[in-house]
Amino acid sequence: MGFTRRAAVAVVGVAALLTASACGGSDSDGGTGSKNVEVFTWWADGGEKAGLDGLVGVFGTACAGQTFQNGAVAGGAGANAKSVLASRLQQNDPPDTFQAHAGAELLDYINAGQVEDISADYDGWGLKQAFPAGLIGNLTVDGKIYSVPANIHRANVVWSNKKVLSGAGITADPKDLTEFFAALDKLKAKGVKAPLALGKDWTQLMLFESVLISDLGAEKFTGLWQGKTDWNDASVTKAIADFQRLQTYSNSDRDALDWTDAEKLVMDGKAGYQLMGDWEAADLDAKGFKDYGWFTFPGNGTTFQWLADSFVLPKGAKNPDGTKCWLKTVGSADGQKAFNTKKGSIPARTDANPADYPKYQQSAMADWKSATQVPSCAHGSACSQGWQQAANSALGAFSTNQDAAALQKALAAAAQQYAGK
Ligand code: GAL
Repeated sequence: MGFTRRAAVAVVGVAALLTASACGGSDSDGGTGSKNVEVFTWWADGGEKAGLDGLVGVFGTACAGQTFQNGAVAGGAGANAKSVLASRLQQNDPPDTFQAHAGAELLDYINAGQVEDISADYDGWGLKQAFPAGLIGNLTVDGKIYSVPANIHRANVVWSNKKVLSGAGITADPKDLTEFFAALDKLKAKGVKAPLALGKDWTQLMLFESVLISDLGAEKFTGLWQGKTDWNDASVTKAIADFQRLQTYSNSDRDALDWTDAEKLVMDGKAGYQLMGDWEAADLDAKGFKDYGWFTFPGNGTTFQWLADSFVLPKGAKNPDGTKCWLKTVGSADGQKAFNTKKGSIPARTDANPADYPKYQQSAMADWKSATQVPSCAHGSACSQGWQQAANSALGAFSTNQDAAALQKALAAAAQQYAGK
């Protein structure tokens, strides 16, 4: 078919990687007799924990006799969890299931032989009917399926403190970068400490990806991850310049902050805007902050930058029956509803009722149907973990040295090393 396994998945975009429902369990427990299901995530607090708790509630009913064991390691985007997981997998001490982003990141685990083929369970659990055919096609790698997606998140969203904006006379959402800079200038003139709240490396990569989408358009942006768009292109140079200018409106301690710390600047009225995935909707709700607005990143048009959290059955899991019941729960209609109504994401299943969801998710569900889908490197749908780490560290270095040429060179070198691999 002309593609390597990794490239093929990247090309199709794995976009709709949604969910499944399952349960069942016919396999043995690997002889350990364990009835614990250790679920490894980085959802330890706020809206993320609320989403996980929703899923755990459904699991408790659907999987009686099994016990949920929380293996969460805190830190946004898995900043800490991924390295803990990597060392556990290396030591053959896997949790019973772990969170992995659908797309290139999941392929890392598949290629390393660390996760089991669960295609047969997809049939048993009716997941092939529950998900759109395109999604099933995208989930299939060499004829096999390895994970159950729990959701679809959107990365390219700007969140705002409405009161701070109106205090600076900002009455409309900026539609392009020029309007965004003008609004940020107004906030600055008003004395707002950090017009644009920003956190460390991966949050900077998210902001940069959004700027790339504005400056390159959806197709060229996606091509960056497929070896089709040259990272040395002048449009990337322009995006770096725009990104550099955006950083001048951010808090100076950005490299020390996780996304929730930056979010707090918005909640406390010290910032006007923050670019962040739509887990922020759930987190603001969980923290009782009501006066927020949202809009698609200026210049992204109808582009929906997607990512999907999925769960796997690791090779060597101690309680595969329990894990399968967890996976079935993750894909079930009840599980998806309990999780996504609290997590800020939208369900992957086609049978969800938008009326069951908060206002933000209703708008995301409508957008998802008509939008142009592009993947995310910061959240694994576009790039492998090696590439993601290289990009994060290039962005981290740039935050300090502000050397635009060095950033472009580092990003081009990362693409050279990882694209199509
Ligand atoms: C993403 C993950 C989301 C959310 C976010 C912030 O990588 O897919 O579910 O948890 O990190 O931690």
